[in-house]
Amino acid sequence: MYRDVSACNTYNYGDALYWNSRYLQEAGSFDWYQRYTALRPFVRKYIPTSSRVLMVGCGNAVMSEDMVKDGYEDIMNIDISSVAIDMMKRKYEYIPQLKYMQMDARDMSFFPDESFDSVLDKGTLDSLMCSNNAQISAAQMLGEVSRLLKPGGVYMLITYGDPTVRIPHLNKPAFNWKITLYIIPRPGFERPAGCSSSWKSFLEPVPLTERGLLPADFVMEDPDSHFIYLCQKMDETMDLGHAIIHPVP
Ligand SMILES: C[S@@+](CC[C@H](N)C(=O)[O-])C[C@H]1O[C@@H](n2cnc3c(N)ncnc32)[C@H](O)[C@@H]1O
Repeated sequence: MYRDVSACNTYNYGDALYWNSRYLQEAGSFDWYQRYTALRPFVRKYIPTSSRVLMVGCGNAVMSEDMVKDGYEDIMNIDISSVAIDMMKRKYEYIPQLKYMQMDARDMSFFPDESFDSVLDKGTLDSLMCSNNAQISAAQMLGEVSRLLKPGGVYMLITYGDPTVRIPHLNKPAFNWKITLYIIPRPGFERPAGCSSSWKSFLEPVPLTERGLLPADFVMEDPDSHFIYLCQKMDETMDLGHAIIHPVP
């Protein structure tokens, strides 16, 4: 279930041909980083089951199926890989809550502005950040995510990228996103014996400094933790002041 690509070991992750051949070789299903059971507290907290959800870069993960089993009613799944999308369409043709379309996350002009209440991304921005033209591709995809979100809607990014490498992309005045960060250990992580927890709970947001960094005294128990960035699209009536949420005094 867990694969770490924290050091980009290929620049192919943004390439449809790469993913098509990979999905042809690896039939079945695979969830990168985390399964829905671990993410459920965050998903249920920020995304009502009646939301119109966009799963960006769905691959062949079972996350969307698990969400429907948990009550979600409308999940549009897109992926650049036509192989993955064809497989998933066939697999889920009997589940009307799930829809699949082949699409590049950098150009989702098929959808009108403010089409979705929530956008979920598990490993797709990461893939673009491990491709040629990473910076441009990431900006294009995040611009599209921002355009597609309704005011008040949330972009939930599940990634291996820590704040030093993700906040600069997310904290753009043009997006006007209020960002909340959670850090969860990788599946199967066990705290070393005799080691007491230095942090309250994984369900508590982690404060960020005003510069968008982790507090200097923050100890990450699992060095291969995953980061969940909750980015809420603020409208003019919501006061953000372009500050990141939960600044350390
Ligand atoms: C690391 S996998 C994650 C798959 C799935 N979200 C999961 O959690 O298991 C990244 C996915 O992003 C897709 N992808 C890569 N570049 C994309 C793009 N430009 N537009 C849409 N999907 C893309 C890949 O085809 C792949 O399915």
